[in-house]
Amino acid sequence: MAIPEDIINEIKMRNDIETVMAPYVDLKRRGKNLVGLCPFHNEKTPSFTVYPENGSFYCFGCGVGGDVFSFVRQIENLDYIDAVKFLAERSGITLPQDGYDDSMQKLKNTVYEINRETAKFYHTYLMSPDGKWALDYLVGRGLSISTIKHFGLGAAPDSWDSLIKHLKGLGYSISDMIQANVVAKSQRGSYYDRFRKRVMFPIINIRGKVIAFSGRAMPGEDKAGGKYVNTADTPVYKKSENLFGINFAKNHCDERVILVEGNMDVISLHQAGFENAVAALGTSFTEEQAKLLSRYTKEIVLLMDSDAAGQKAAKRAGEILQNTGLEIRVLLLPDGKDPDEYIKKNGADKFKALLDGAVSEIEYKLLTAVQGIDINQDDGKLQYLSRAVKIIAESNDVMTRDLYIGRLSDKYGVSRAALETKVADIRKEKFKQRQKREIEQVVHPKFDRTDVNPERRLHPAAAVAEETVIAILFQHPNTFDATYEKLKPDDMITSLNRRIYKHICECATSGRNLDISYFGELLPPAEMGYLTSLVNSEKGDKNADAVLKDSIKVILDEGLLRDTRNVKNMSVDDWADNLQKIIDAKKKGN
Ligand code: UTP
Ligand code: MN
Repeated sequence: MAIPEDIINEIKMRNDIETVMAPYVDLKRRGKNLVGLCPFHNEKTPSFTVYPENGSFYCFGCGVGGDVFSFVRQIENLDYIDAVKFLAERSGITLPQDGYDDSMQKLKNTVYEINRETAKFYHTYLMSPDGKWALDYLVGRGLSISTIKHFGLGAAPDSWDSLIKHLKGLGYSISDMIQANVVAKSQRGSYYDRFRKRVMFPIINIRGKVIAFSGRAMPGEDKAGGKYVNTADTPVYKKSENLFGINFAKNHCDERVILVEGNMDVISLHQAGFENAVAALGTSFTEEQAKLLSRYTKEIVLLMDSDAAGQKAAKRAGEILQNTGLEIRVLLLPDGKDPDEYIKKNGADKFKALLDGAVSEIEYKLLTAVQGIDINQDDGKLQYLSRAVKIIAESNDVMTRDLYIGRLSDKYGVSRAALETKVADIRKEKFKQRQKREIEQVVHPKFDRTDVNPERRLHPAAAVAEETVIAILFQHPNTFDATYEKLKPDDMITSLNRRIYKHICECATSGRNLDISYFGELLPPAEMGYLTSLVNSEKGDKNADAVLKDSIKVILDEGLLRDTRNVKNMSVDDWADNLQKIIDAKKKGN
């Protein structure tokens, strides 16, 4: 354990989970627990549950869970260590500076440093005479020197090892350079710079740290490696959770954020005064990115190329944003250009006018729903109207619905009353279905432990038994000795539960109390949710001793079975040994 447990305990004691959650979640008491609407996914009936008794929480809808540290970590988007620091500061506790050794945190810090030095190296090169080819290119694309500096743009030399040499000179090891994904290893075993002869865009997170790079080839030179080469996921970077430009946009997007497709679009927009533009990093827009944005803004304008791909991207982004409670507007640029080209050609004022006229999502849907329908024919008109009422029915705002019903009625000569009835029917049906779904979700949570522990599928009975053992050990710590006597960590079938059980054993054998907070550093958030769901389950409520005994047997039996399945690949001696083991185990009645 890296951070001493007494400090974890102290922080936890001074940061009562209800109080910490109060600004983010509206909680109501239900029995000895509290419930509220989950801040991590969109829901209408509360499945977010807080257990003050042991300071934990769990959402039955989406599976997030953990302790007060897990909560802060996820709601504030922090590392484990930063979440601990956050709560330490909140309660005026000073953490010992070097009182803990955390190798993951150290690696992350090194990767951050390497990224910063690499960005400096690329930027210096771009601004040097040798980098003229790249600077000419960027300036030729309309970027000013101050924009180039503002974004810290750079260029990678046409060389296989200049970055390696530079970083070596600063004392970094090859393996750390590889961790940062700025250097790679060839099949022959040699090392080389990943980015060569490319214009470099550093990707900077909300806290202003360089976390990755995107490197663009010169025009006509994108054969090797493609137009863009991007940093793969590293200890400090997950591309699905970041947005290019968010470091600046976060201070300019109280009202709205503009989501574009490319890095160059973001830069041109910022240069033209639209500092609220961000781009998904070469992925289709993800839920994590939506979540990130929803913490900073109220409205998203989807600014997509007006080609088919752009329309498809707008549609998908719209679907993802649906669950965030953000307003969505869609802006298709007139002449098939991307925003960068549009601004260059038409200027910022014209772009601003376009932006203000961006249609609401509903309008956009109504416009595109015409596609493939001949509305001059009666049956075509009816087909369109039936699509249109469905679209209008999706809006939860009565005035919006009224507005569009009015427009449809005027435009197509159908009575308002008919349209209103139709919309009301659709909404009633939807409401019923939603209620059914939500009730269903509380009774049979959609969230499945198999999502977190995929080996559960291969060994369903054993995995459930493992979960039962873990739950009961938390709920009845006095059963540990008897359990440990029969069941060693290596007997656990699925690796996740083996890791958890191992840690339980370490805690227990060193005489510490079991507390999920001692798992926060070991388990990533999803696994914390899994563990919390077990700890708060009803598994140990009745006949704990008997249930525990049965579960241990199920696990050990599965282990034996698994061993005999390997018999084909065994030597005769191993086979005989194994057989003896099984016979012995059976005799002991495991
Ligand atoms: P675009 O091809 O539209 O590039 O890809 P762009 O940003 O407009 O660049 P310019 O204007 O041609 O210089 C949009 C985004 O998709 C990702 C990049 O993040 C890019 O900004 N992408 C594109 C890749 O990751 N790899 C590729 O090979 C191409
Ligand atoms: Mn472009």
